[in-house]
Amino acid sequence: MKLRISLHTRFTIWFTFLLVFLVGAILFVIEKREVNTIFEELKNKGLLMAKNMADLNSGSLRLWDTETIQANIQEQINEKLLYVVFYDLYATPLVYNQEIAGKKEIFSVSRLPGDARPDSISFQTQDVYLAKRVQRVLEIEIPIFVRGSPDKWGSVKIGLSLEDMRKEIRRTRLALILIGVSGFLLGMIGATLLARRISRPVKKLVDGTVRISKGDFSRKIEINSQDELGNLARSFNEMSARLLETREQMEETHKKLIQAEKLASIGKLAATIAHEIRNPLTSVKLNIQKVLEDDRLEAMEKEHLAITQEGIGQIEKFVKELLNFTRVSGLQLARFPVSQILEESVKMMVDSFRQKRIAIERKVDEGLPEVLVDGDKMRQVFLNVLRNAYEAVDQNGKIIISAALAGNGQAKKIRVRISDSGCGIPDKDWENIFEPFFTTKPSGFGLGLANARKIVEQHKGVIRVVKKRSAGTAFEILIPCEGEP
Ligand SMILES: Nc1ncnc2c1ncn2[C@@H]1O[C@H](COP(=O)(O)OP(=O)(O)O)[C@@H](O)[C@H]1O
Ligand SMILES: [Mg+2]
Repeated sequence: MKLRISLHTRFTIWFTFLLVFLVGAILFVIEKREVNTIFEELKNKGLLMAKNMADLNSGSLRLWDTETIQANIQEQINEKLLYVVFYDLYATPLVYNQEIAGKKEIFSVSRLPGDARPDSISFQTQDVYLAKRVQRVLEIEIPIFVRGSPDKWGSVKIGLSLEDMRKEIRRTRLALILIGVSGFLLGMIGATLLARRISRPVKKLVDGTVRISKGDFSRKIEINSQDELGNLARSFNEMSARLLETREQMEETHKKLIQAEKLASIGKLAATIAHEIRNPLTSVKLNIQKVLEDDRLEAMEKEHLAITQEGIGQIEKFVKELLNFTRVSGLQLARFPVSQILEESVKMMVDSFRQKRIAIERKVDEGLPEVLVDGDKMRQVFLNVLRNAYEAVDQNGKIIISAALAGNGQAKKIRVRISDSGCGIPDKDWENIFEPFFTTKPSGFGLGLANARKIVEQHKGVIRVVKKRSAGTAFEILIPCEGEP
């Protein structure tokens, strides 16, 4: 199995490496320099001490007064200046402090015998057993000249304890380590914050992608930064919005396709049935007509036949409507003012409206452009909707018909609204009412709205139910002004 390391962890690991390396390298350089400086300082100090020692004793040297020199030396010795040795010209140790008496390894070695250059100096470090412990010592040896003469008298060597320097270096190291650790900690905190700043939007992006892969387009990714990640998130949101749009379009198309297929098969079946029924029905009707004309019939028989005739009428109506619905025919386009088609449709219903005392209110805007439609078919649409409204309202009901311009530019449309104060349509039926054969009426066929939608869509228009504030129902029919069906 492959190890999965998150972006956040990877960033932190890399940053830690980098930080450790950088801090380490910087501290290493600083430490080297600091140690060097401390050592140089000590060397300079030691050199000065050696020179002072030579100057201080030059008088006594000339007189070979070793006792005074010995006393002088003894006075100077402390835990920093561990020893002083005066050598003669032949590197024989003449005077030295008593602490190193017997320690041949210290005083028997001179670095500068026979070296006549006045500025020759010898530095060296070594471990020396003194005061019951091994100590690291810096030895400095310089030549001594007799005052007033170019001749070398001998040399003086001093031994300086390096313990103090070691302590100082240790202190410096400690301080550097402290600085390093706090620098590292601060760096880590910074790195963690930075990693989070980077990884959080990335995580959001990842979550967004996962959501989309599961088909959830609803939520946007909230990254408002103005950097590449912000741009990415914005493009991502745009992409998902477009995906959503495409998916909705696809679903819509799919629905329409299914609808069309359903209509086609219903149409075929209905057409066959209607065709098969029509001829025998006509013959039945004619025969009944003939029988009814016979004077020998009794009143009772006539009444029965009349009822049969009525039933046949009902069947004929259904067959007619079914054929009307299933027949596919082209549009006979012409230009009409919408108000004219509306008025003709209302006129066909006027008697029915009057019987039920239904009030018709018209709100048709002035100067509406004409529409390019099939007049007969469009009248059928309005008629079907008006008939439904008529059937939905009680006595003294009200129907409002309005027409106005909607949309703009190329997509100008006429919006016709037919609303009634009737019983209304329950929400659950909204998507069914346009289905063929959907009806809630005892003697309805359920073809009125299906037919209306078929015609409106043939005109590239839209028909739909819309929400209404008061009781009742409102239908909206949008017809493109410049129809190109
Ligand atoms: N204006 C309306 N008010 C209330 N219900 C309506 C209205 N228009 C249509 N409907 C509902 O839609 C159904 C389908 O209407 P339609 O296709 O014309 O068939 P039908 O009128 O034969 O029932 C109706 O049965 C009714 O339930
Ligand atoms: Mg109807």
